[in-house]
Amino acid sequence: MSVEDSGTAEQEAASSPATDEAGEPKLRVENITKQFGRIVALDDVTLDIQEAEIFALVGDNGAGKSTLMNVLSGVHSATKGTIYKDGREVHFSNPSDARDNGIETVYQDLALMDDLDIATNIFMGQFPKRGLGPFSFIDWETTYEQSRAIMMDQLGRDVDIKTEVEFLSGGQRQLVAVGRALAFDPDVIILDEPTSALSVDATRLVQDTLDRLAEEGITIVIVSHNIESVLAHADRIGVLYQGRLVDIKQPEETDLEELNELMTTGTLDAGLLDDD
Ligand SMILES: Nc1ncnc2c1ncn2[C@@H]1O[C@H](COP(=O)(O)OP(=O)(O)OP(=O)(O)O)[C@@H](O)[C@H]1O
Ligand SMILES: [Mg+2]
Repeated sequence: MSVEDSGTAEQEAASSPATDEAGEPKLRVENITKQFGRIVALDDVTLDIQEAEIFALVGDNGAGKSTLMNVLSGVHSATKGTIYKDGREVHFSNPSDARDNGIETVYQDLALMDDLDIATNIFMGQFPKRGLGPFSFIDWETTYEQSRAIMMDQLGRDVDIKTEVEFLSGGQRQLVAVGRALAFDPDVIILDEPTSALSVDATRLVQDTLDRLAEEGITIVIVSHNIESVLAHADRIGVLYQGRLVDIKQPEETDLEELNELMTTGTLDAGLLDDD
């Protein structure tokens, strides 16, 4: 008995809560299928996304990228399969369920209010309040203070948060949308095509910011068509083809041609890359 006891104690000492948690993926998608009527948008997708990694989802039009993102953000519920967050099974009936579990989504249209300033956009719908119940009012001082902290400290952008969003560049607008996600203090941020409408410089700005957030420990899932940028910034790249996850590559073991072949044929067995 005493031998067993001491063994257990040693095991407990060896596996602190931190290592236990670190052992679980941040997000796990298990055997997820999503059908819209007869269309199979996702076909038995199983995928682990690790804490603080930048995971890129690529694939041709209609491959299922947005659908997978929408299943993770609670917009769609899966027809079959299970989602785990930090090793715990979760069920999302709507985006606020995902939000309650630390998952924020930045949609392609950004949904910013052009004639309102940066701070108001960041805290729209969840302003810090003072007072109680019907006598509460927006605490603008805290709103501006926290917005400044998000833009400066978390995103590294020295902007005047009283600037109306209509005056911002495309890259800055994207960062305000990321700032709004950060206001909910998520540990996962999902972004749909964050750089698709951006100039080269703005793309770099957004990518550098996402790198920085990942370094802070936030898990980033990006849907992107920009394969070069994905190769430069992602830790892993998942390729969807006709609803199936056909491969997961690390940037250093693949290249533009190979990813293109995977995206357009779903396989590397066709030998197209061997043709000279
Ligand atoms: N709400 C919906 N109702 C019916 N079919 C849908 C719906 N959403 C997606 N689909 C279908 O599911 C499949 C996957 O679509 P999805 O939007 O996930 O692809 P995608 O990879 O995001 O493509 P894109 O690069 O064009 O954005 C497509 O065949 C699409 O037509
Ligand atoms: Mg899409």
